[in-house]
Amino acid sequence: MIDKKQQNFDAIAPYYDALLWVTSGSTILRSQTALLPEIYERSDTIRTIAVIGGGTGAFLDTLLNRWPETIPLPDVYSIDGSERMLRISRERIARAYPDSLHRLYFIHRRLPWRADKPPPGWPRFDLIITNYVLDCFDDATVAQVQSQLHQLLKTNGLWLCVDFYVQQPGRIRRVLARTIIRGLYLFFQITTGLRPTRLPAYDRFFSEHDYRLRAEKTHAFKLIRARLYEKNADAAFRLTLK
Ligand SMILES: C[S@@+](CC[C@H](N)C(=O)[O-])C[C@H]1O[C@@H](n2cnc3c(N)ncnc32)[C@H](O)[C@@H]1O
Repeated sequence: MIDKKQQNFDAIAPYYDALLWVTSGSTILRSQTALLPEIYERSDTIRTIAVIGGGTGAFLDTLLNRWPETIPLPDVYSIDGSERMLRISRERIARAYPDSLHRLYFIHRRLPWRADKPPPGWPRFDLIITNYVLDCFDDATVAQVQSQLHQLLKTNGLWLCVDFYVQQPGRIRRVLARTIIRGLYLFFQITTGLRPTRLPAYDRFFSEHDYRLRAEKTHAFKLIRARLYEKNADAAFRLTLK
């Protein structure tokens, strides 16, 4: 039964991968892995990774599978609000990387957290990944989630953000993009109790906090955009001065 007060992906977790495959083939996974070469270029500096809302772990599996052989695997914190998604992901990763389980942490947690400080024991990260999860929040909450994640990201750390977006060139394409995205929200409203009905302005946070855009790729006629940002040293410095 879906909790009407809180969205939850538990109900669709067992069917999630099949649903993705039927509706979009390999596009969603390809959009998430498109910027892996840019991440691997910096792999010698990446020791801790946070995957937020990683779902069934398909992306994490690919990320670890292609990790450069000469560089030790990083510690990975996979944080998700759905217990069932997390269980599926943990089982998948445990099967694929039995020797690295001590480096992998699966944390059942909904963002944003309520306190001023991050949950005790969470490290600061060299890479944060938010693929198709910022779209689960409304404008006010997404800014709160992003600023909490910003606190956890080290200066010069990377942030991979893959999601839908609608700044399509041309009116017809924009209308089409909005219609497709509205349909997706309706689907997730019915199956997960998702409350937002449109994409939040998640771009704003990155520009307001001087993140440097390191790489970008678009997919599905520009309906999906993968961006790799770097947290600017100056931005972190300014925040501590405030
Ligand atoms: C649309 S799915 C995307 C899954 C995966 N990243 C992918 O691209 O296939 C959204 C994921 O974010 C998680 N999620 C949604 N809201 C969340 C929240 N407030 N805190 C933590 N995880 C959340 C869901 O449980 C789900 O696993």
